[in-house]
Amino acid sequence: MWGLALVLTLLFLKGLQGQDSAKRVVGLSGTCLRLWPPKTLAKNIESVQWKRPGPSPSEFSVILTWKCESDHCKDKNWTLNHLNKRFGFITQNLSLTIQAAQQQDSGFYIFEATDEHGKVKNYTFQVSVFDHVGEPHVLQDSKVLEGGRCQVTLSCSVPSGDNVSYDWYRGSVLIETARNHSTLEDQIDANSSHIYTCNVSNSVSWTNRTFILHCPGDSQRKWSTLGSNRG
Ligand SMILES: *[C@@H]1O[C@H](CO)[C@@H](O)[C@H](O)[C@H]1NC(C)=O
Ligand SMILES: *[C@@H]1O[C@H](CO)[C@@H](O)[C@H](O)[C@H]1NC(C)=O
Ligand SMILES: *[C@@H]1O[C@H](CO)[C@@H](O)[C@H](O)[C@H]1NC(C)=O
Ligand SMILES: *[C@@H]1O[C@H](CO)[C@@H](O)[C@H](O)[C@H]1NC(C)=O
Ligand SMILES: *[C@@H]1O[C@H](CO)[C@@H](O)[C@H](O)[C@H]1NC(C)=O
Ligand SMILES: *[C@@H]1O[C@H](CO)[C@@H](O)[C@H](O)[C@H]1NC(C)=O
Ligand SMILES: *[C@@H]1O[C@H](CO)[C@@H](O)[C@H](O)[C@H]1NC(C)=O
Ligand SMILES: *[C@@H]1O[C@H](CO)[C@@H](O)[C@H](O)[C@H]1NC(C)=O
Repeated sequence: MWGLALVLTLLFLKGLQGQDSAKRVVGLSGTCLRLWPPKTLAKNIESVQWKRPGPSPSEFSVILTWKCESDHCKDKNWTLNHLNKRFGFITQNLSLTIQAAQQQDSGFYIFEATDEHGKVKNYTFQVSVFDHVGEPHVLQDSKVLEGGRCQVTLSCSVPSGDNVSYDWYRGSVLIETARNHSTLEDQIDANSSHIYTCNVSNSVSWTNRTFILHCPGDSQRKWSTLGSNRG
C-alpha cells in the first residue's frame, strides 16, 4: 500500500519534472522570491489557486485561493488559505511571493487558473533556494619531487558543500573546474612561487580565496592567504 503510494508519488513528480513548461526559479535564502504567471495568461480569469504537491499524487496543499467576485474583477477578492505569513499575493499580476525564502521552500509550485468558462490551466514552477556559499577552509601542502619539481595539493572546502562548484586559477588562468570537488593537485617547478585562487560558487553566490604558494614551503610561510572576496 505504502509502496504503491510512493511509486505513484515518484511517477507524479517525474511527470511534473517532465513538464518542460516548468519554470525554474532560483533564489538566495532569506530574500523574497516572486513566482509570476506567464504574461500570455488569458484576461478572463475568474479564479486562481497557488498550490504545492502533497505527499500523494492526488493531494495538494493549497497556499491561497483567489476569486474574482465583482463584475469587472476590480475588487479582487482574495483569500489566503494558508496561515503561513511568509506567503503573499500580488493581485495586479497574480504573483505569489515567498518572504525570507528557506531551503525547505524548494520544490514544485502549481498555479491553476480557471477562466469564465470553467476551463482550467496549470503552470508549474520549480523553485530552488540556495544558501550563501560558506567561508572556505583553505589548506595547502607541497612536496618536493625528483627532477626539480614540486607536487602541490590545495583544498578549499566550504562547510555545507551542497551543490557547489570549484573553479581553480593559477594566476589569472582557469586551470580546473569541478563540481563538488574541493581539492586541486598540481605540479610546479621547485624553488618557485605561484598565486592560486579558488572560486567556490552555487547558483546564487560565490566566494573566492587567493593564496601564494612557495615550494618548498618553509615553516613561517607554510600557507598565507592574500585576501578574500565574496559575491
Ligand atoms: C470575499 O469573498 C468571501 C467568500 O468568497 C466573502 O465572504 C466576502 O464577503 C468577500 N469580500 C468582499 C469584500 O467582497
Ligand atoms: C507584478 O506586480 C508587482 C507590483 O505591482 C511588480 O513589482 C512586479 O514587477 C510585477 N511583475 C510582473 C512580471 O509584471
Ligand atoms: C491541471 O488541470 C487539470 C484540468 O485541466 C486538473 O484536472 C488537474 O488537477 C490540474 N493538475 C494539477 C497538477 O494541478
Ligand atoms: C632550489 O634551491 C636549493 C637551495 O637554494 C638548491 O639546492 C636547489 O638546487 C634548487 N633547485 C632547483 C630545481 O632550482
Ligand atoms: C544541484 O544542482 C543541479 C544542477 O544545477 C540540480 O539539478 C539539483 O537539483 C541541485 N540539487 C540540490 C540539492 O539543490
Ligand atoms: C559531494 O561529494 C561527497 C563525497 O564524494 C558526497 O558524499 C556528496 O553526496 C556529494 N554531493 C553532491 C551534491 O553531489
Ligand atoms: C577574486 O575576486 C576579486 C573581487 O571580485 C576579483 O578582483 C579577482 O579577480 C578574483 N580572482 C579570481 C582569480 O577570479
Ligand atoms: C566565481 O564564479 C561565479 C560562478 O561561475 C561567477 O559568477 C563569479 O563571477 C566568479 N567570481 C570571480 C571573482 O571570478
